[in-house]
Amino acid sequence: MFLLPLLVLQVSTRLNLDLAKPGVAVSPSLYGLMTEEINHSYDGGLYAELVRNRAFQDAARMPVDWSAVDGGTIELDRAEHPSPARPVSLRVRGGAANAGFWGYPMRPRTHYSLTLVAKADAPGPIEATLESSDGSRVFAKAEVDGVGPAWRRLTARLATGAGIQPTADARLVLRTGASRTVWLGFVSLFPPTYHHRLNGNRVDLMNLLVAMRPRFLRFPGGNYLEGGTIAERFPWAHTLGPIEDRPGHQCPWGYRSTDGMGLLEFLEWCEDMHAKPLLAVYAGYSLGGQVVKAGPGLEPFVHEALDEIEYATGGPETTWGARRIRDGHPGPFDLAAVEVGNEDGFDRSGSYPGRFAQFEAAIKAKYPHLAVISTTGGQDWLGQRFPMTHAKPDLVDEHYYASTWDMMAMADKYDAYDRKGPKVFVGEWASQDVPAPWADAAHKGPTPNMKCAVADAAFMTGLERNSDVVAMACYAPLLVNVNPGARQWAVNLIGYDALTSFGSPSYYAQKMFSESVGDQTVPFSLEGVPEQHQNGKTLPGIFASVTRDTRHHQLFVKLVNALQAEQAVEFRINGAVPDAVGSQITLTSDPSAMNDIANPKRVAPATSRLDGVGPVFRDTLAPNSVTVLRLAIR
Ligand code: AHR
Repeated sequence: MFLLPLLVLQVSTRLNLDLAKPGVAVSPSLYGLMTEEINHSYDGGLYAELVRNRAFQDAARMPVDWSAVDGGTIELDRAEHPSPARPVSLRVRGGAANAGFWGYPMRPRTHYSLTLVAKADAPGPIEATLESSDGSRVFAKAEVDGVGPAWRRLTARLATGAGIQPTADARLVLRTGASRTVWLGFVSLFPPTYHHRLNGNRVDLMNLLVAMRPRFLRFPGGNYLEGGTIAERFPWAHTLGPIEDRPGHQCPWGYRSTDGMGLLEFLEWCEDMHAKPLLAVYAGYSLGGQVVKAGPGLEPFVHEALDEIEYATGGPETTWGARRIRDGHPGPFDLAAVEVGNEDGFDRSGSYPGRFAQFEAAIKAKYPHLAVISTTGGQDWLGQRFPMTHAKPDLVDEHYYASTWDMMAMADKYDAYDRKGPKVFVGEWASQDVPAPWADAAHKGPTPNMKCAVADAAFMTGLERNSDVVAMACYAPLLVNVNPGARQWAVNLIGYDALTSFGSPSYYAQKMFSESVGDQTVPFSLEGVPEQHQNGKTLPGIFASVTRDTRHHQLFVKLVNALQAEQAVEFRINGAVPDAVGSQITLTSDPSAMNDIANPKRVAPATSRLDGVGPVFRDTLAPNSVTVLRLAIR
C-alpha cells in the first residue's frame, strides 16, 4: 500500500494584522527612479537618437562609428565646421555609413526623421538609406535636396514598408556622389518617440518606466553630476536649445555625452512619467578630487545652481524661467527637492559641511518651500557613517550596494532609526550577487537575478514599514545597454539592445511594491517565522510589510519568502473585515533565474484570484518569492 504525500502544508508562520491600531503615514513619494549617463543609459539607450557620434566629437583623431562606403573616403576636418559649439566636420567623398549604437532598430511601417547640417563643393542631393549592415537589403530610402556651398540644416523622412522583419542589424548610409566633396556637420536620425516628443525618448523603455509609477526622478547623477573634473560636471546651461548647437561633454563613465538628454529633456521626461523632478545640483566637488571650498570661490557655483532651479521653476519675469518658456515649456516644473552634490563623503578634504551650508542657505533664501538634501549625515554603502557637522538638513541621502544577504539583513535597519534626525532618502541602492558593483562587469549581470529581487523586496519591506523616516527611495543604476562593451556597472534594473528591452526580476519587485503603496502602514506581528542561515549568521526567512489605502479601503500585504520551500501562512485580521475574494500577485523563480533579450519575461509576476479571505485565512507563499495580496476591506 502506498502512503499518499501530505498535501496540506503545516502552518508555522502567522501574520497578525491590527487595523484597529494606528500606523504611520506612508510617504506619498516613497518610490522613485534614479538616473544618470552610465551603461549608455541615454546615448544608446532611453534618448531615442540613433546616430552614434552625430557631431564627430567622440574621438579627437578618428571619425569613430563612421566608415566610408562605395570606395569613397571620410576624414575629420577641423577647418570646416558649422558652429563654434562643434569645431569639426566629416569630409566625405562617395559616401559614409554610421553603425549606430550597436545597430539601428528597423521595424515595419515606421518613419525615421533625418536631420543633416551639411554643405558641398558642388550642388546635388544626398541619398540616405537604412540598410542591413552588409548593404544587401535596403529597408528605407530618401533623397536630401538643397545641399550647396553654404552650411544648411536639411531634413528628410525615411519610411519602412510593411514587409520587413524587425532587426537591429542595420546602418545608416549617406551617399554623396563620387565626383564632389560633402561636409557633414551634424547627422541625426530619430524613430517615433514617446508622446511624439521632438528629441524625445524610446517608446519601449518609457513604457517600462511609466509602468513603475515613479513618484520622482533623481537626476542628473550620481557621478555624472560631478564629472571627473570641475570642467566635466553636468553642464546644464549648455544642454539647452537646438541639439545641433549643444557641444556635449565627457562623461565620467568613459565616453562622451551628446547632451541630447539635456536639462529640459530630463524635466519633460519627469512630466511624461507624472513624476516630480529631484534635481541634484553640482556642489563644488568632482570625482578626481578637485574641490572648491566654501567661501567666495564657491559663489559662482551656488549661482549656477540657483539659475538651474530658476530654469525649472521660474516665471516669465525671471531670466531663466523666460529662457525655459522660449525653449518651449511655458509652465514651471514642480520640483520634489534639490540635492546638493553626490556622495560628498568621498571628499576627504572635509569641505562638504561648509559647501552644503552655503548652498542650503542660498536655496532656502530664494526657495523656502524646497526640501534640500544633504549627501552626508547618512550611511554609505561602504558601511561608513559620514558625520553631519552642520545644521539638520531636510533629508540625508544614503546609498547601499550590498550582497543579497547584507541587503536582507538591512530589512530591519530603519526600525530603530532616530526619529528626531533628518528624514532619509535612499538615493541609490541595489542587491548584488557580484563581488563588487564595478568588478566582474563583463561576466556578471548585466541585470539582477531572482535572488537579488527577493533581497531587494526584503529591504523594501523595511523602507515601507518605516516610511515615517524613509521619505524616498530609488534603485540604481536604472538602465543598461546589454551589448558587449556598453556597460560599466555589473547589476542594473532594465536591459535593452537597439531593438528590444526587458525588466529584470528586481524591476518587477519594484513595480509590485510601487503599485500597492497605500497611505498608512498597518501594525502587525509575525510569529513562527522559519530562519535562514549563512556563514554562522541567522536571518528571518520571511519578511513582511502591510499598508492600507484609507481612501479606497484597500489592504496591501507584502510578503517575501527567501527560503527555497513553500511556506504556509495564517493571516489574522483584527479591526476590519476583508471581502471574501482578493487578488494575489506573485513573483517566483529559481534564485539564479534572469530575464534577457531572448527571454524578456522568463521571470514575471502572475496575478491570481484569492478565495476564502476572511478574518482568519491561509495562503501559501511560493519558494523564493515576492507576494502582494490586495484585499478590499470594510
Ligand atoms: O550608480 C552608480 C554610481 O554609484 C553612482 O554614479 C554613484 O553615485 C555611486 O557611487
